[in-house]
Amino acid sequence: MEVTSNKQVILRDYVTGFPKESDMQLVTAATTELKLPEGSNGVLVKNLYLSCDPYMRGRMTKREPGSYVGCFVPGSPITGYGVAKVLESGDPKFKEGDFVWGMTGWEEYSLITATQALFKIHDIDVPLSYYTGILGMPGITAYAGFHEVCSPKKGETVFVSAASGAVGQLVGQFAKLLGCCVVGSAGSKEKVDLLRNKFGFDEAFNYKEEPNLDAALKRYFPEGIDIYFENVGGKMLDAVLLNMRMNGRIAICGMISQYNLEQTEGVHNLMSLISKQVRMQGFVAFSYYHLYGKFLETVLPAIKEGKIIYVEDVVEGLESAPGALAGLFAGRNVGKQVVLVSRD
Ligand SMILES: NC(=O)c1ccc[n+]([C@@H]2O[C@H](COP(=O)([O-])OP(=O)(O)OC[C@H]3O[C@@H](n4cnc5c(N)ncnc54)[C@H](OP(=O)(O)O)[C@@H]3O)[C@@H](O)[C@H]2O)c1
Repeated sequence: MEVTSNKQVILRDYVTGFPKESDMQLVTAATTELKLPEGSNGVLVKNLYLSCDPYMRGRMTKREPGSYVGCFVPGSPITGYGVAKVLESGDPKFKEGDFVWGMTGWEEYSLITATQALFKIHDIDVPLSYYTGILGMPGITAYAGFHEVCSPKKGETVFVSAASGAVGQLVGQFAKLLGCCVVGSAGSKEKVDLLRNKFGFDEAFNYKEEPNLDAALKRYFPEGIDIYFENVGGKMLDAVLLNMRMNGRIAICGMISQYNLEQTEGVHNLMSLISKQVRMQGFVAFSYYHLYGKFLETVLPAIKEGKIIYVEDVVEGLESAPGALAGLFAGRNVGKQVVLVSRD
């Protein structure tokens, strides 16, 4: 029976304001037996890749029960999406050697009991890390958010914020594949260059260099915006509201600019929704997981044929995970932020 230590990243305590690397800590848990407990229906896994996602910030704040995603437990390993290899399984759907993606722990080895939320990985002709992003939760978010929530039509104008990130880079490319005219915003010259030159956006701008976001949007959308894919909230949403076209759609995917504020900013231009008859709708990825098979059928071939380009930002080692997660809120990631825990 193999006995090993288990490095883990724990949350030290609940966080207020911007998360810092020091809010998390790398610890080595007491020696663990690499064995599924007797009678368990769960799976024992070795974690290979972990995903850093903005929603995890919400889980660092103490919340009342009933919020749609529970908070982390201080002193316990952080949990999140990841890709793992099955070492032992008490669930007949999985067997030793399978690769899976889904909710796991920020540690080397995890016992996953909620196996209903695990997806078995069938296609390993693409990098396994892709199942934390383009072929995982952010991918289905971009796909369902754009195709289901935005009701897009060829030729429409589309604006994407946080456009070079995990979700944004895909939304822009899905929109281009459909024949839309796409503009993205991002927070650095490097990211704007990626949008224009790698992801094929028609235009892109650095929102940090625009003193007047309304004027910037009028410059890029002289006829207005048909679809806004919202990732940031705050001042950007207010400026977009002034620039929507008749019967436009706004998909509220995320509002990262608000996640670290103790008092969220107000939105002032909601009245524009009335006269322009705009539909604004929030959504969550897991309501669309039933589309995962259809999604893979579309996206896997597009990746293999080079029709969709995907950029990841990979840091190595669990010890790099706290800095990588905190970095999302400073825009340090260029592309999807992934943590490599082990290659096999
Ligand atoms: N509804 C759902 O089910 C669902 C699922 C997945 C993700 N989301 C949401 O989708 C959004 C994007 O997620 P992602 O995984 O693709 O993350 P990401 O874009 O890969 O990383 C976050 C990026 O947000 C930008 N950002 C950070 N602080 C900002 C601020 N104050 N104002 C404007 N931009 C800021 C940064 O890019 P810049 O350098 O460009 O500022 C940063 O790189 C997030 O709001 C997330 O919560 C929602």
